[in-house]
Order: sequence, then structure tokens, then C-alpha cells
Amino acid sequence: MVKICCIGAGYVGGPTMAVIAFKCPAIEVAVVDISVARIAAWNSDQLPIYEPGLEDIVTQCRGKNLFFSTEVEKHVSEADIIFVSVNTPTKTRGLGAGKAADLTYWESAARMIADVSKNDKIVVEKSTVPVKTAEAIEKILTHNSNGIKYQILSNPEFLAEGTAIQDLFNPDRVLIGGRETPGGQKAIQTLKEVYAHWVPEDRIICTNLWSAELSKLAANAFLAQRISSVNAMSALCEATGADVTQVSHAVGKDMRVGSKFLNASVGFGGSCFQKDILSLVYICECNGLKEVANYWKQVIQVNDYQKNRFVNRVVSSMFNTVSGKKIAILGFAFKKDTGDTRETPAIDVCKGLLGDNANLSIYDPQVTEDQIRKDLSMRKFDWDNPIHLQPMSPTVMKQLNVVWDAYAATKDAHGLCLLTEWDEFKTLDFKKIYDNMQKPAFVFDGRNIIDEQKLREIGFIVYSIGKPLDGWLKDMPAVA
Ligand code: NAD
Ligand code: UDX
Repeated sequence: MVKICCIGAGYVGGPTMAVIAFKCPAIEVAVVDISVARIAAWNSDQLPIYEPGLEDIVTQCRGKNLFFSTEVEKHVSEADIIFVSVNTPTKTRGLGAGKAADLTYWESAARMIADVSKNDKIVVEKSTVPVKTAEAIEKILTHNSNGIKYQILSNPEFLAEGTAIQDLFNPDRVLIGGRETPGGQKAIQTLKEVYAHWVPEDRIICTNLWSAELSKLAANAFLAQRISSVNAMSALCEATGADVTQVSHAVGKDMRVGSKFLNASVGFGGSCFQKDILSLVYICECNGLKEVANYWKQVIQVNDYQKNRFVNRVVSSMFNTVSGKKIAILGFAFKKDTGDTRETPAIDVCKGLLGDNANLSIYDPQVTEDQIRKDLSMRKFDWDNPIHLQPMSPTVMKQLNVVWDAYAATKDAHGLCLLTEWDEFKTLDFKKIYDNMQKPAFVFDGRNIIDEQKLREIGFIVYSIGKPLDGWLKDMPAVA
């Protein structure tokens, strides 16, 4: 029986390994982590992450050929293939701070593999890492090898949260990069055989190591660039009376552009896009490619602009002040169908409104009050470094209320901001919400999910990203 061990039981390690175990009953899969709480949650009825379809496959495989454990060294030493799926956050201090990927967790995993291994191993980079990381890992492993041979493969993960199981069951492609040596090619073949249990062969792409590593950063940069492009257009739509949904529909109908991933929004979030583009920018700078670095930096700058623009729109529409006003925030997760709040645009929007002294009443179906309070107390990039957690100031504590229902959040509110596209928000009783709000009642739709005409008929003043402005808003000061 082939034995697989995955180091890191997070958003990637957990679902990817559950799917390998589910699709390959003859393979034993152990997912290990240094976090005792996370492993305990994987072994309980309350999994540590919310992902549609995940619970079903975990319960089918757990205890049979899928194990979650804190016995990291034991499972690593027994495995033939080791996936490393640890976090690779943006560095917060030292050389490259604010841009470069922090490989501390990766390096410590590699040193531990070298310490405990007793037979030859294939080590797979599942985490997203800077191009050429495999070379560094190879050095760490071979300099501490005691005669053991390692093959390093790059097998980046392309799943998106909220659709992780669907994406893993039916991936557009699986990418495997390895050394162009007989040993490297044999290792590629071994990993290919694992995926071949359910992925058609023509969707398994094999490349050299550096292409695989770079393709992951490139893919995320291209995806984020589409969103910043459509978001930049949304600002121009508001200024000209064009409708961004009509523009993106018309543009996306061109087969060369394609229609997916062109939804204007309050800004992209999630743990990957910003971090990976910053990492790409840093790599370009280190290679003397200033123009290329500046090109990709713009994707993030437009994203920051979009989030600021949204806050400014809320404040300027409400007579240039939200001080003391209750604003309902519907949705805090960075997208629907996940409880993940890493880099969610809701953090920037809420901080912006709190900064203008608003009272916020927040509701998200999957995010806990504890998480929301933590997120709003943290500095940028610190979500992966909890050591820097700042206690929330008593004033901000008072300005913040987290509730468990959209109707409670909106009761007596002056304004409502829709920040995550949860399906349940589309079917809310907006007449009831309107009746219970202060007048004039404002809706700011950061996801373009509501029927703005219907809401206007009810009596709301409505702002939707990139849509022609309500007569009311047109008279308000321009938003930069
Ligand atoms: P995560 O923070 O959810 O999980 C990482 C886990 O690794 C944590 O539970 C942590 O305790 C554990 N860990 C860290 N160092 C360890 C060590 N030395 N030994 C054992 N466990 C250790 O992160 P994630 O979202 O799963 O992302 C992991 C990697 O995958 C990142 O590089 C990320 O960029 C990449 N990625 C993420 C996604 C996504 O949607 N989240 C998608 C594709 C790729
Ligand atoms: C992304 C990549 O899609 C995935 O391939 C990679 O493995 C990890 O990073 P993820 O961040 O989980 O996945 O979600 P994604 O669906 O890409 O959404 C990212 C952000 O962009 C979200 O905040 C989402 O709301 C936003 N978005 C997405 C838009 O604003 N408009 C769109 O058209 C699509």
C-alpha cells in the first residue's frame, strides 16, 4: 500500500487529502499538523473549515484510509510521498517585508523531513511558493540526507474555496513539475498515477519544476487581474451611465476573453490573490524586472482603490457622515460558501466605516463573532501571525455588534452594505427590512446581487457597483 502524508491540515491539505483518500481506497493518507486544535476538529463532527461536500467525504474515509494526526514525525517517516501544504504568508518583517513569501513554515517542515526520514521519499510542494523554492528545499534535504534520496515535485493546488470539492473532483488541470532526470521523471510518474485514479490523463500536465512553481503564481495573477480590470471599468461605468454587468457580458462573449470571473465587486479577497501577486512582484524586483513588477502591482492598487471607493461612496451618500449611524453589514466572508475571512474586503470596509465613527451591526452565516472581532483588531498581513494581535480599543468594541440574523442586523439601521454574495441574501424580505430601517434607507450592494429596481420601488436609495447611479446619489459629491 502506498502511504501518503500531508504536512498541514488547512484549507488545502484537508480537502485535497480527503479527496485522494476517497478516490484511491488502496492508498493510506495521513494528514498531520502541529495545531492540536485543528487536528482535534478534523477528528470531530465539527470540521475546522466549512466547505460544501467536505463533511460527507471525510466521514466516509476517516478511520479507514484517511487519518488526521499530530504525530507529525511518525507519519512523515512512514510515508512514500510527502505533500507539504503549510502556510506561506507574506513576510511581515525583515528583508522583503510586505511582499516576499515567508517560507519559515516550509523550511521547518523540510528540516523535520530530513531529520526523521529512513527511506527514499518524494516530497511534493503543495503550498504556493516562489519560483526556485524547490532548489532551496532540495539543498536542505540533501545536506541533511544521511544517504536518503529525495525527489522534489511541484504540484500546486488550483482549488477555490467554496467549490473545493467540486474543483478537486473535476479539476481543469493537475500540474506536476519535476526534475528532467530519470529520477525526476519517475517521481512525476508515481504522482501522476495517484491522480490518474480519477483525473483524465490529458488534464495532467507535466512540466519542469520552475514552470510548475511559476504557473501557480501566474494563474492567480491572471485571475486577479481580470477582477481588477472589471472593477476599474466599474468606476468608469458609474461616471458615464454605462452598466458594468452589461459591459462585462458584452466583453465576455468574445470567446478569446471568456465570460467567467468578470463580476465587478467591492474588491477581491481571500488568502491567495494578494499574497501571491506580492510574491510575484518581489520575485520580479529581485530579478531586476521593475516594469514587470510595476505592472502586477497595479492589480493590487486597483483592488485597494475599489475598497476605498466603496467606503467613500457609503459615507458621501449618507450626507458625508456616518458618525453615530447604524450600518448593517451583511456578509463578512471573502466569498460565499466559506467561513474564511482572510483578506476579506469586509475588513477594509468595516475599518473604513468604523474610522468614520459608524456603529456596525454585522451578520454572516458562517463567520463567528470571535473571528470578526479578531479580524477587526488586526493589522494588515497579521492574520497569519497571531502574535501581533492587538486588543480592540474599548471605543471600537462599543461601535461593533455581531448578530445572527439579517433582520436583526438591519433593524433601525440607516444603511445596509452587502459585502458577500451569500444566496440567502438574494431572497431576503426587503420590504420588511425597509419598514424597520431609518429613512432615508440606503442599500450599498458590493456584489451586485440585488434587484436594484425592485428595491427602489420599495423606497430604498440604492448603490450597486458599476451601475447607473440613483438620482439621489448623482447629486452627491463625486467619489474619488
Ligand atoms: P492554512 O493556514 O489553512 O493551513 C496550513 C496549516 O499548516 C496550518 O494548519 C498550520 O498549523 C500547518 N503547519 C504550519 N507549519 C507546520 C509544520 N511545520 N508542521 C505541521 N503543520 C504545519 O493554509 P492553506 O489555506 O491550506 O494554504 C496552504 C498553502 O496552499 C499556501 O501556500 C497557500 O498559498 C496554498 N493555496 C491555498 C489555497 C486556498 O484556497 N486556501 C488554494 C491554493 C493554494
Ligand atoms: C483563488 C483561485 O481562484 C484558485 O484557483 C486558487 O487556487 C486560490 O485562489 P479563492 O481565493 O478561494 O481561489 O476564490 P476565488 O473564487 O478565486 O475568489 C477570490 C476573490 O475574488 C473573492 O473575494 C471573490 O469574491 C472575488 N471575485 C471572484 C470577484 O470579485 N469577481 C469575480 O468575478 C470572481
